[in-house]
Amino acid sequence: MLAIIGGSGLYSLGEDFHLEEQAPRNTPFGDTSADILQGRWQDIPLVFLPRHGPGHRVPPHRVNYRANIWALKQLGVTKIIAVNAVGGITSDMPPLTLALPDQVIDYSSGREHTFFDGDDAQVTHVDFSWPYNAELRGILMEVGLQTGQPLAASGTYGSTNGPRLESAAEITRMRNDGCNLVGMTGMPEVALARELEIDYACLALVVNWAAGVGDSSISMQDILQNMEQGMRQVKSLLFAAARLMQQ
Ligand code: HPA
Repeated sequence: MLAIIGGSGLYSLGEDFHLEEQAPRNTPFGDTSADILQGRWQDIPLVFLPRHGPGHRVPPHRVNYRANIWALKQLGVTKIIAVNAVGGITSDMPPLTLALPDQVIDYSSGREHTFFDGDDAQVTHVDFSWPYNAELRGILMEVGLQTGQPLAASGTYGSTNGPRLESAAEITRMRNDGCNLVGMTGMPEVALARELEIDYACLALVVNWAAGVGDSSISMQDILQNMEQGMRQVKSLLFAAARLMQQ
């Protein structure tokens, strides 16, 4: 079963999503961000969860990533496509770029970031060399080509804590570290999915130049405009990917 985790700007799949069941929010790790919606997107069965909750009330550092991923696993989810709005750091990632990161660097802190807390007597270290699933990324690449929507095939996602944006020096440091993209919700989500053996890909939409990269300061108005415009492409890619995965 495929799950889509919607990020900033993607709070529903629209009228073509027919709700069949709504899973309760409570888990052993606390409540999920929102009710998890199980249904059909046209005729394709899938699960949808808006990461920031209804009305975007949950900020990135307070998302209960463990509850979200655990609840999806309980519902039989084996694949996740996560949508994340991000800032572009390198010149190949201007606003409105759609990118499929293949690497991540975690700059976040103070988040519950593991299911293996030592309580179960077994110390577990999952392999995280390649955080994002190559097959899912390949499917998204393919539907991008089919639908004439070019995607950046790789990139390193630097995941910060937020909710504030970064300083220009922090972005310079991240660029020096090898980051192409910056966002606040990449981690620990992808790592938790790996711990529960769920395949995971991130479809990142660049909504602004990162701090100090563009000519001017970052405007919320521009971000919202890019988000609205980009999410239309995101939705059509997601639908095409879900369809291809069903075949
Ligand atoms: N920084 C961090 N997170 C973001 C940004 C950014 O510039 N844009 C969208 N999410």
